[in-house]
Amino acid sequence: MRVLVLHGPNMNLLGEREPAVYGPATLEEIDARIGERGRHLGAEVRTFQSNHEGALIDRLHAERRWADGVLFNPGALTHYAWSLRDAVAAVALPCIEVHLSDVSRREAWRQVSVLADVRAALCAGRGLDSYLEALELLLEIAPGPERDAEGTVALLTERLAHADERDVLADELAQILRRSGRFRWVALYDVDPSQVEVLGWAGPGPPAHPRFPRTEGLTAAAIASGRPVVVQDVRGDARYLATLEGTRAEAIFPVAGPSGIAGTVDVESANAQAFTADRLRWLERCVEALAPFWRASRGRSG
Ligand code: DQA
Repeated sequence: MRVLVLHGPNMNLLGEREPAVYGPATLEEIDARIGERGRHLGAEVRTFQSNHEGALIDRLHAERRWADGVLFNPGALTHYAWSLRDAVAAVALPCIEVHLSDVSRREAWRQVSVLADVRAALCAGRGLDSYLEALELLLEIAPGPERDAEGTVALLTERLAHADERDVLADELAQILRRSGRFRWVALYDVDPSQVEVLGWAGPGPPAHPRFPRTEGLTAAAIASGRPVVVQDVRGDARYLATLEGTRAEAIFPVAGPSGIAGTVDVESANAQAFTADRLRWLERCVEALAPFWRASRGRSG
């Protein structure tokens, strides 16, 4: 995985520039930390800073065939330089917008971003960690699994066609979804009149609550609305019922049966903002392909 990091105007003065807002680290230190984290994660990183809009565009063009994804902090250009938006759209690489400061809580003019409709995600307000979180997220989301939706749907459908113990099948379906989508944890649950029970899962450990009342957690909201519930950062959502430590983003997809919601698919990531629009579309297609799992006869030995 190759990552291009672009920094916009005034970022060369980091360290001495408004340290109360942007932190004490210099650009050199930030680039070194990104490079180090990249090596640790098996990514190759190239970084570039310019005070000029055109130079940033030129570099993005020049690296468009080398890079698999981009981390872009355009500085103040974020808020008015529409040619940067077009450049990101033109190269069609997954791009995460990064800011050291929390632009959503600053002056109104900083709350506008030209990248809003072309970025895959936004990581801001965490100083140097904004870049490191964005790097980890980029490695999870790029290249997007949506490029292989057909392949994953075919794998799921093929696996569903072979009768097996229901819990064995659920484990394998969860594994297919987890691997193809590069998610941290995936599980399939049965929804009964009073409770929700895990049938199969894939990831670093078992769920903290293998069964729980259907009125609890994000699952309750998904069952009640019949719509997917997506939380990009569970730290800010009181409904969240922890499944395993370290989860940052969670999506619950309800699956309808003949009489109401019969099951749910729980997908989790260690990265906040992990559910980009492309990945959600991909997941919805996969969950649709999984629906026959709940239409088959219920019971643990199915
Ligand atoms: C910034 C936020 C911008 O509003 C500002 O103009 C910058 C830095 C940030 O990283 O917080 O130059 O992009």
